[in-house]
Amino acid sequence: MKFDLNKNPIDLFASWLDEAKITEPNDPDAMSFATVSSDGYPSVRMVLLRKFDKKGFIFFTNYNSRKSNEINANSKGALCFHWKSLRRQVRAVGNVEKATDQESDDYYFSRPLGSRIGAWASKQSKLLDSRETLLKRVKEYENQFEDKPPRPEFWGGFRLIPKEIEFWSDGKFRLHDRFRFVQVKNEWKSNRLYP
Ligand SMILES: Cc1cc2nc3c(=O)[nH]c(=O)nc-3n(C[C@H](O)[C@H](O)[C@H](O)COP(=O)(O)O)c2cc1C
Repeated sequence: MKFDLNKNPIDLFASWLDEAKITEPNDPDAMSFATVSSDGYPSVRMVLLRKFDKKGFIFFTNYNSRKSNEINANSKGALCFHWKSLRRQVRAVGNVEKATDQESDDYYFSRPLGSRIGAWASKQSKLLDSRETLLKRVKEYENQFEDKPPRPEFWGGFRLIPKEIEFWSDGKFRLHDRFRFVQVKNEWKSNRLYP
């Protein structure tokens, strides 16, 4: 298949994600997101892409979680999508920064009430002695906020600002199509890579 390497990679990503939304049975917007831990090990988990544009890729999380602590100590991150139904991969590397309060509010208040309460109840990545403790915390916050929880200060978005985006599409006999866009002086330069 031919892909347009002159296209802006964000536009190309948008068109691949649109295709994945049709073919992928679950979570086309799920991506692995890697940070670097204080001992230099990579640290990776899945998150959901909730917004993207030419400034970067945004997901939302607890700002006291392990990933957030790692981002605070080392702002370099990486992400990777794999759309099995399309046999395609997209990966990106860059610096990670907090989304704006407005972006975090916009997304937080678009979520169902249960998820908004859940954000309060979860001390994400901390030790939990029992499931009952978590459910008790949910009840407490339901009683405290009823149906109007504000956005917790410890919950919001992060944006990965890509300096490099690579696309991979499955080809016959492992002769996959692979190309990389790199930011050079605020412009995207593209190259093909051997698969
Ligand atoms: C498909 C999928 C999507 C997920 N999306 C998110 C997300 O958007 N935000 C989030 O904080 N955790 C999400 N999680 C949970 C994370 O993978 C992870 O368990 C959690 O964020 C704690 O990670 P940490 O301890 O490295 O901070 C998701 C998990 C899966 C399997």
